[in-house]
Amino acid sequence: MTDRIPRGGLSRRGLLKGGAGAVGGFAATAAMGQGTAPPAAPAGPSDPRDPLPFEVTLNGERIQASAEPRTTLLDWLRETRELTGTKVGCNHGQCGACTIHIDGEPRLACLTLAQQVERREVTTIEGLAAVAAAGGYAEDGLHPMQAAFVANDALQCGYCTPGQIMSAVAVVNEGHASNAAEVREYMSGNLCRCAAYPNITAAVLEARERMPEAAADGGGARQELHLRTGEA
Ligand code: FES
Ligand code: FES
Repeated sequence: MTDRIPRGGLSRRGLLKGGAGAVGGFAATAAMGQGTAPPAAPAGPSDPRDPLPFEVTLNGERIQASAEPRTTLLDWLRETRELTGTKVGCNHGQCGACTIHIDGEPRLACLTLAQQVERREVTTIEGLAAVAAAGGYAEDGLHPMQAAFVANDALQCGYCTPGQIMSAVAVVNEGHASNAAEVREYMSGNLCRCAAYPNITAAVLEARERMPEAAADGGGARQELHLRTGEA
């Protein structure tokens, strides 16, 4: 067979070596030609996980706060402010365990982003007694609704109780506690797995008698308890 590669000519090994050298040389030349580091990439959008600042009045205290845009008010209250009285139930707007007040209106903290309460007044169960104290109708350091829940044994495990009380205060403030049937209707968004409903209803009716007609809870609440969304 004829040797197609002439003696002293380019062998396959030599070709590969030479090719590699050529490529290397081209790269080196290109790099030398640039002379400087490539320009920095333009700044992209900020990390969506970066905390953003916001201002809120929380249980009567105006504070400068921050939270990731995706953080719910429920998580922020519990994990950042350590206000664990607001409970995590379904986390999907179905049970009422996370009910708090925003500007005096009942809202579900699990459907509200922390950033949505910018310049709003947020009241949790921890701040409810102070609201009553400021209005001059606290009872032994409790809001009348809290005292009525105790007096009427309106709980068993107690997990739903903070949300029940926050909703109940709003129901009375809005004038929807004229009788047991109305209380049951307007409290229907708050579930109690222990089925303490009869005692809860009794407590709401009792507290109604000891609360001012339009309790100074930051304003009258719109009554949309079973249509509530997290919209602040
Ligand atoms: S946790 Fe159930 S409604 Fe928010
Ligand atoms: S008291 Fe147990 S869930 Fe209501």
